[in-house]
Amino acid sequence: MDKAEIYRKLEDEARNRAAGERNPIANAANFAALMWEYLPDINWAGFYFRKGRWLVLGPFMGKPACTRLQVGLGVCGTAVAEGKTLVVPDVHQFAGHVACDAASNSELVVPLFKYSTIIGVIDIDSPSFGRFDEVDAKAIESLGRLFMLRSDDVS
Ligand code: SME
Repeated sequence: MDKAEIYRKLEDEARNRAAGERNPIANAANFAALMWEYLPDINWAGFYFRKGRWLVLGPFMGKPACTRLQVGLGVCGTAVAEGKTLVVPDVHQFAGHVACDAASNSELVVPLFKYSTIIGVIDIDSPSFGRFDEVDAKAIESLGRLFMLRSDDVS
């Protein structure tokens, strides 16, 4: 399967799984499990949800992670502060990177938008350098939009 096909299947299954469910935690849990199942060469995939100036750990697959990240710091916090997707080919070169798992070498962080407000992020880590590209970024942005469309607000 090439990358585009992997993402087509992942998004199809995510759409089906979320079709009858609007609870954001239930949907985030399945989306994390699907990213974990479909995406090769990753060591963490999951959600952080925004509470004020914090990003609080949500459903994920992988090793236990930092429960709380500060908006403006690290890759996740910077993606929120700048309001954009970040593709980081080498996390060790990213000032302020928060190393939850020493095995992570590259990272993709996609903000989740409700209109113009960011309510959280999808975060994916890889043990390989340069694992993520624009195809991954666009596909996970699309998955993020699907999550937002199909889920109620996180309280
Ligand atoms: N590396 C992230 C922290 C979250 S973990 O990767 C799961 C960061 O710098 O924000």
